Amino acid sequence: MTVKEHIEHSRTRITKLVFPQDTNPIGTLYGGTAMKWMDEVAFLTATRFARRLVVTVSMDRVDFKVPIPKGSIVELIGEVTRAGNTSVTVTVRMLREDPLSGDQELAIQGELVMVAVDDSMRPIKIVPE
Ligand SMILES: CC(C)(COP(=O)(O)OP(=O)(O)OC[C@H]1O[C@@H](n2cnc3c(N)ncnc32)[C@H](O)[C@@H]1OP(=O)(O)O)[C@@H](O)C(=O)NCCC(=O)NCCS
Repeated sequence: MTVKEHIEHSRTRITKLVFPQDTNPIGTLYGGTAMKWMDEVAFLTATRFARRLVVTVSMDRVDFKVPIPKGSIVELIGEVTRAGNTSVTVTVRMLREDPLSGDQELAIQGELVMVAVDDSMRPIKIVPE
């Protein structure tokens, strides 16, 4: 498989509903919850790409573009946008979706760097197979 095909096969989507316990005092998705979900989809994406145990080494930049009200559907999409030696960068986009109209809008975007490690937590080369 080519690297491009690996990237396509590792692209990961998670769909969630924003419950009241996921929100801040003004009733929109809490940033810490959003980042937990982003880490989860980045972990899955990098694992599928590397087929190794991976850990998060950096959450580089997260832009919160529009608030996400409770009751929204959110779709998280993780995609490898840089493949290094032992690390990959996963770009995560979070779309908010109106459950009644289905309209989707980019709400949050961020980049996470995930490192493949061996059993001793040492970085190990990623060789997509
Ligand atoms: C991940 C970890 C093993 C990397 O160890 P390290 O000594 O920094 O490793 P290296 O310097 O050899 O770097 C390994 C790779 O990570 C990248 N990297 C390291 N620190 C980075 C940072 N702050 N931002 C972006 N990339 C980073 C390096 O560029 C390198 O990538 P490459 O091999 O593709 O070129 C170590 O930092 C660690 O254990 N961190 C804690 C991880 C953790 O607990 N995460 C939360 C739970 S999942």
